[in-house]
Amino acid sequence: MPGVALVGSGSADLPATLTNDDLSQLVDTSDDWIASRTGIRQRHLAGADDSLASLAAAAGKNALAMAGLAPEEVQLIVLATSTPDDLFGSACQVQTLLGASRAVAFDLTAACSGFVFALVTAAQYIYTGVFQNVLVIGADVLSRWTDWDDRRTCVLFGDGAGAVVMQRQDDSQGTEEPGNGLLGFELCSDGTLNNCLNLSYQVASKPLVGDLTVQQGQFVPITMNGREVYKFAVSRVPEVIEKALFRANLTTADVDWLLLHQANQRILDAVADRLKIPRDRVLSNMIHHGNTSAASIPLALDEAVRSGQVQPGDVIATAGFGAGLTWGAAIVRWG
Ligand code: UT7
Repeated sequence: MPGVALVGSGSADLPATLTNDDLSQLVDTSDDWIASRTGIRQRHLAGADDSLASLAAAAGKNALAMAGLAPEEVQLIVLATSTPDDLFGSACQVQTLLGASRAVAFDLTAACSGFVFALVTAAQYIYTGVFQNVLVIGADVLSRWTDWDDRRTCVLFGDGAGAVVMQRQDDSQGTEEPGNGLLGFELCSDGTLNNCLNLSYQVASKPLVGDLTVQQGQFVPITMNGREVYKFAVSRVPEVIEKALFRANLTTADVDWLLLHQANQRILDAVADRLKIPRDRVLSNMIHHGNTSAASIPLALDEAVRSGQVQPGDVIATAGFGAGLTWGAAIVRWG
């Protein structure tokens, strides 16, 4: 069976920032409350000329450049997002913006777990030998769907996009198994907890003809039961990482970096403590970006790779969690 390698990362640059002090002009909050309860000090916002597709394409372009690949060499683009420009999907627009004319492209929705789900999905196409080069993008513009009057949620979210290039590794010598960049994974869902975190569609009945009506409405901004999601994350995330490590035949001692969805610094600390992973092996950038949903993991990975923190060969335990509810972990080797 072929192996898979992570050979490039990239992210989009969003210059506009919204600080905690800015937010305190919108709602009854403070820098002190937000920083101490979440670890966030600022978040980035998409500009007036940005679209979900343009941010995703910018991240993808940077990842392809790091991998040394031309867009025409990509065969598959998986776009993890919950905030597409078009409900029919934004991946094809990303394909066009990148000039990846030979790629098939589709969206994948799993909220803040989206990037991990997309990474694992992409790997399956590589393992089966179907595709050689796959671009996996996590991008979200949650600012479109944030209730800017709700202090319980509006202080958390930011916009962003990050990407990785996954590449098939064939054993050219035929003597040994090719190296594998996806060492183990575990994905989970629990729809019974769906009402903890929603960006839901509110139906309005519209008479059509005779007795017939159609159900048309609109999506309403994000609602979240923060305490329930917090409890869910600190109990289920360590568990799912342990399962993924077990599948990889590794232990936490083998983990160079813990890279969680950047939701709350207190969640990162609690999960690291439960797994007995030292705090200096936890990657965190939420202080600058807040919670960017599907973008948070590839964005933090890209920053850590470009700063030299993550080195080729490093083992990264990554986990996403969020709406659905969904959660999942992947143990990956960088480079
Ligand atoms: O990406 C998807 C996954 N999402 C998450 O993982 C989010 C998980 N949840 C959390 O991170 C935390 O629950 C929050 C950061 C959302 C909230 O922190 P908390 O420590 O759980 O606060 P709380 O909801 O228990 O609220 C404590 C108090 C409340 O006041 P009372 O009722 O005790 O008087 C809130 O009204 O803090 C109040 N509060 C605020 N005060 C100032 C809530 N939001 C704010 C705010 N500024 N922004």
